[in-house]
Amino acid sequence: MSYQALARKWRPKNFSELAGQQHVVQALTNALTQNRLHHAYLLTGTRGVGKTTIARILAKSLNCERGVTAAPCGVCAPCVAIDEGRFVDLIELDAASNTGIDNMREILDTARYAPTVGRYKVYLIDEVHMLSRSAFNSMLKTLEEPPEHVKFVLATTDPQKIPITVLSRCLQFNLKQLPPPIVARQLEHVLTQEGIGFEPGAIRVLARAAQGSMRDGLSLLDQAIAYGSGGVEEAVVRQMLGAVETDYVLRLLEALAESDGERLFGEARAMAERNLAFDAALQDLAVCLHDIALLQTVPGAIPDDQPGRDRLVELARRLDPETVQLDYQIAVQGRNDLSIAPDEFAGFSMTLLRMLAFAPGGRPAIAVGSGPVVAAATTSARAATRPVTAAVPVALDASIAPPAATTATEAGPAGSPIAAGAPVAAGRGTGAGRRRACACRLTPVRRCSPAPRHRMPHSIPCRSSPPWRLASGRA
Ligand SMILES: Nc1ncnc2c1ncn2[C@@H]1O[C@H](COP(=O)(O)OP(=O)(O)O)[C@@H](O)[C@H]1O
Ligand SMILES: [Mg+2]
Ligand SMILES: [Zn+2]
Repeated sequence: MSYQALARKWRPKNFSELAGQQHVVQALTNALTQNRLHHAYLLTGTRGVGKTTIARILAKSLNCERGVTAAPCGVCAPCVAIDEGRFVDLIELDAASNTGIDNMREILDTARYAPTVGRYKVYLIDEVHMLSRSAFNSMLKTLEEPPEHVKFVLATTDPQKIPITVLSRCLQFNLKQLPPPIVARQLEHVLTQEGIGFEPGAIRVLARAAQGSMRDGLSLLDQAIAYGSGGVEEAVVRQMLGAVETDYVLRLLEALAESDGERLFGEARAMAERNLAFDAALQDLAVCLHDIALLQTVPGAIPDDQPGRDRLVELARRLDPETVQLDYQIAVQGRNDLSIAPDEFAGFSMTLLRMLAFAPGGRPAIAVGSGPVVAAATTSARAATRPVTAAVPVALDASIAPPAATTATEAGPAGSPIAAGAPVAAGRGTGAGRRRACACRLTPVRRCSPAPRHRMPHSIPCRSSPPWRLASGRA
């Protein structure tokens, strides 16, 4: 038999094989067992989360020779025909290529006739949002009151584009994106059944790259099997995806924790030399920051055998939770901005520099470490453990730092961590911030009144910092 793509070969044949989407399975199972089936369903969700799969299982449930059931037998003639895609009473229409009213009329005309071999005629209209307005209108009547023997299943990735008149005639189910652990489990299942060896790390990387879509996950797995020789190895998968080794990401975070701009930039350049994908790097950075945030609040959520866990724990101890939150936000946003950046490297390094420049409590690498691992600390407790000097940028030359910045009273109201040294908050309205040094940790080029003015290493003035605005006379 010719080779069949894994995604097709492993399409679930009944509800119990389906990964995730329990809410839909439960509702349909109840409806089927109680014989209270609606005549029109709308399944929404991104690509490859099970819309077509569920529609086909439903068609089998309705037409199985053993009677209407939530567990179709899979061996009778209708079940087999549906699995093989040649059941005459399952009419699949791709609305993306049949958008017009004529196509719709043709289909609806046939709806009047009884099913040829099955119990029900099931109309599966995929990408239904692509239908023209007139096509939608022509189906309204049939959709509202179809003949007894007709069921509609509409599927779409873009429910916003569906007229409200159609929505109100359907029972809507929103399929969820599949989280990486569920995708990973399915990939492992498929590999085990196929008798192909794999490294758990490889599955983790693939499952994350699938971005919530099981089809994407299985397609990537297909690719990884072809790319490697026999087994599925982590190094090979990373190379295939242009994915960045966790080691790189951890080194970036460690440089950030130490506010070491030079090392940070060096790491970024090394990544560029190795042609690593910056988009993936930012994604991995966000994943690591998420892990760090988890370690700070729910340490048990990160398994002991996760690669690099020790270093993550150390980072969780050194970075304060607000910084982690902010860096996460910057990483996610930076990924968004990559497409409009002058070039990928500029976008990536700029994102890293932004992390360096902004830090709610400064980047008191040494200071925070002296306290408890900030895990489970309350906001006020965190604010209290942060040393007052946090308001002063670590890299700031002490000789030109204004002395005013270091007193406790200057650090803003107690328990408002953001106000302490945050570049954005400082100087906004309240007089307190105006006297403070710029919180970006870049080299001050000259002392000006009332605060020093800074320049980025490549001589772009630091716009984020209110003192700069003061200095330039625009405040
Ligand atoms: N929930 C799921 N559980 C297991 N496999 C799934 C699931 N969703 C999708 N798949 C896999 O992805 C493939 C495509 O799924 P499909 O239902 O056609 O996606 P779509 O939502 O785009 O219609 C299936 O053949 C199956 O291998
Ligand atoms: Mg589909
Ligand atoms: Zn059957």
